[in-house]
Amino acid sequence: FEASLAALDAEVPPAHRVADRHAVVPVATIGHFENTPDTDPSVATNRDWVRAAVRKAESSDIGTARIDAARIDSTAALNDLLEKAGATTWGGVTGEDRAKVLHRVGERIEAHRAALIEVMAAEAGKTADQADPEVSEAVDFAHYYAELARELDDVDGAAFTPAGITLVTPPWNFPVAIPAGGVLAALAAGSAAVLKPAGPAERCGAVLAEAIWEALDDAGVSRDVLTLVQVDEGELGASLIAHPKIDRTILTGAYETAELFRSFRPDLPLLAETSGKNAIIVTPSADLDLAVKDVVHSAFGHAGQKCSAASLVVLVGSVARSTRFRTQLLDAVSSLTVGYPWDPAAQVGPVIEPATGKLLDGLTTLGEGESWLLEPKRLDETGRLWSPGVRDGVRRGSAYHHTEYFGPILGIMTADTLSEAIDIVNEVEYGLTSGIHSLDVAELRTWLNRVRAGNLYVNRGTTGAIVRRQPFGGWKRSSVGPGTKAGGPNYLIGLGDWASRPAAA
Ligand code: SER
Repeated sequence: FEASLAALDAEVPPAHRVADRHAVVPVATIGHFENTPDTDPSVATNRDWVRAAVRKAESSDIGTARIDAARIDSTAALNDLLEKAGATTWGGVTGEDRAKVLHRVGERIEAHRAALIEVMAAEAGKTADQADPEVSEAVDFAHYYAELARELDDVDGAAFTPAGITLVTPPWNFPVAIPAGGVLAALAAGSAAVLKPAGPAERCGAVLAEAIWEALDDAGVSRDVLTLVQVDEGELGASLIAHPKIDRTILTGAYETAELFRSFRPDLPLLAETSGKNAIIVTPSADLDLAVKDVVHSAFGHAGQKCSAASLVVLVGSVARSTRFRTQLLDAVSSLTVGYPWDPAAQVGPVIEPATGKLLDGLTTLGEGESWLLEPKRLDETGRLWSPGVRDGVRRGSAYHHTEYFGPILGIMTADTLSEAIDIVNEVEYGLTSGIHSLDVAELRTWLNRVRAGNLYVNRGTTGAIVRRQPFGGWKRSSVGPGTKAGGPNYLIGLGDWASRPAAA
């Protein structure tokens, strides 16, 4: 089976790796790179320091002073800040030398692993098993983009002019890895970076910035190449996005946020990874035990608050008709323990803010023909702790089929054939991640050739893309801009002069 998969890999048309509507950019090749390992919890001392970090998180104010110092409350102060941010550049520093600085950044982020886990638990409610790999991903971005920076010395300068200022506006759900990815790509490419962390996880951005500044100090590079700023998301936020000093923006967030940014400044060069409504298809040939495990992990890790999360599972043929998959799923999901990260038993953490609006709707309201296989329950007064829910009988074309809820809910859909299941997946306007569980190579071939999403996962969950191995980015309404993938070989080149290329529809 492994050999068949390798053969299949070679067969996948390149259009399925880089979206066909996206610009074709040169692909850099790199030297040595190895992914950073996560903390090994089988080692007793590791368990001790990780537990200490999340225990501290319960009352931690780490990062507060730093983010407070970065708050701007007037246009004059914003202008002043961006004037200074643009004044220091990497001009004249070779890719080779930028690479050395970036490797140092990777070391400094690794050195602050405990502090980063603490702040992610404190502010974003991340359990240690979710926060730890996120630090590894940030370290990976540093070392990987460092190696890509070396390659840029050989790229034709006329095609690649990423100087100036890159604004990075990350989301709160990966409050360390995603800002690290954006900032370090900018720095690796030779641009200054301005980081505006997401409000609900702003201290995470501050602790990350601190680690990067330390590395800049070590390397004798001005701290001005990275500016941390916090502004309210009203008028001043709009001024930041539209500011003429900003040369390009890296956004990760909702599709509507990308549209909002464009409304502030229509000609804004924007590289955005946006929303998702992702599904895992399970066919009768699948290893059902593995499928249940991967679906549960993809749907409920970080309480489902991932753009990559699986919020639909599409059962095919006999898997749909029999009770086995549903029974195992119910057992697995109902055994999950919900709690704040400092509770050592917690497997599913809180949602970022008390559930309201769309999320509350998703947790409490059934559509036509739907029933709860497991009904979500509010577990505390705050409205942040919810037991995970599974709804059955989700119909094609329903609100649940098409809406991204960003919370601990999974919906079950059924299809008579694989072909019908793929249609169900492709009907969604987003196309970020997509998964299949099948041990039939012909089925996999059919799926690979037809499914339209940026990251395709076979017999694996849909979350936790690994830098370099699984460059991350979407199709359709899951991407706006050049479509180059984070953690992939053309991401830095994608920060180059592509503003004149047509934007994704
Ligand atoms: N890269 C993350 C994942 O793969 C999502 O942003 O889960």
